[in-house]
Amino acid sequence: MTDISPVSDTVTSDTDVPDFPVSRPQGCPFDIDETYTRLRAEEPVSRVRCPAGMDAWLVTRYQDIRDVLADPRLSSRAAGSDHMLPSYAGHAPLPGFMIQLDGEEHSRLRRLLVGEFTGRRVAAMRPYIQRIADEHTDAMLTGTSADLVRDFALPIPSQVICDMLGVPYQDHPAFQHDSQILTSFEADEATRAAATRRLEDYLGELIEKRIAVPRDDMLSRLIERAAATGRPLTVPELSTLAVLTLVAGHETTANMITLSMAVLLEDPERLAALRAAPETIGPAVKELLRYLTVIQFGLVRYATEDVTVAGTEVRAGEWVVAALPSGNRDASVFPDPDTLDLGRRARTNLSFGVGPHQCVGQHLAEVELQVALTTLLRRLPGLRLARPLERSDFKLNDIVHGLRTMPVVW
Ligand code: HEM
Repeated sequence: MTDISPVSDTVTSDTDVPDFPVSRPQGCPFDIDETYTRLRAEEPVSRVRCPAGMDAWLVTRYQDIRDVLADPRLSSRAAGSDHMLPSYAGHAPLPGFMIQLDGEEHSRLRRLLVGEFTGRRVAAMRPYIQRIADEHTDAMLTGTSADLVRDFALPIPSQVICDMLGVPYQDHPAFQHDSQILTSFEADEATRAAATRRLEDYLGELIEKRIAVPRDDMLSRLIERAAATGRPLTVPELSTLAVLTLVAGHETTANMITLSMAVLLEDPERLAALRAAPETIGPAVKELLRYLTVIQFGLVRYATEDVTVAGTEVRAGEWVVAALPSGNRDASVFPDPDTLDLGRRARTNLSFGVGPHQCVGQHLAEVELQVALTTLLRRLPGLRLARPLERSDFKLNDIVHGLRTMPVVW
């Protein structure tokens, strides 16, 4: 295995390199910076400086991003988005943190997990997800206002992933707080490490219990499946894998629910059209995923060998950022890309990534989004923002784009 150079090796003092990430333009929290349009046209692989201090190659065109993410020479090892954090000091990936593992180390874990999230399995969960969405809507309907983040968008995916894993949902306030720290761009390394430790300790204890007495839940099945392969998962491996699934399983989807509602509420005609044709929610969700691209800075990779990306030589030891929001706004694939067009065929959007690490939970996320949005449209026809969007609290600097709070009335 190629060694990962500590980041200090790649820090440069060249002051001409533009900073990454570029901020969203003033005015519309759903737009992405015009720089991306220029880069796609003129300089599809460009040099940028990440907050961690290292320079990287920023890849902005749709097909180039697909190629980067599918290329085994561009490693995920130690290359998570946290590497863009200023405090990054270089570390080996935790055992079980499959999003940062490559090759057989990664596929061994992925094989254990994917069966839990197949399209068929998730389709069978739809009535259960609907019930959870209805329960939260019932609770909201006992009043006349709510915070859509706290009262609807976070609890639905959070409860679903807890139930799937076999994690008691009543413990969610603690791990929701910690998982927000892990996806925040602003938390320092020590705060993030403490949050990871708390989550792993909590899950480690639960795993010990499942090893002693298995139940009908994902944790017990992962233990059993791994044992059947002759390579049992260690408790640290399994607790890291569970933390990843828990965090990935609700932060992203919750932010998609609130941002989708925010953008829909801005355009009453579009909202009315979707309410009148709920059967179109499948493609509508794919277009919302494309347009909003909540993994808002992109995915980081690390070259383990020299590789040519769209004609540019990337040397072994250099970093590459696949700018998902830019690829999703590439006009050669999505005409008029800056317009949200719910009738568009956006099936091939990049929001769930591409290649060996493509999102394990994408079917689940899509069904949760479909159920959450149609339930709100049907049961809260008078729903509106209690505060104008321009005064809303957007997570412009977090790894996952979203809203911190979303006060609504109906
Ligand atoms: C709208 C919601 C979601 C979005 C936008 C999203 C996005 C992504 C992306 C872009 C990746 C690829 C990361 C990379 O290549 O480095 C990924 C991986 C992953 N996602 Fe999601 N995700 C979502 C929901 C979910 C859900 C509901 C789960 C459920 C458990 C989940 C679990 C995972 C896991 C475990 C991985 C790692 C896969 C691997 O390394 O092989 N995600 N996700």
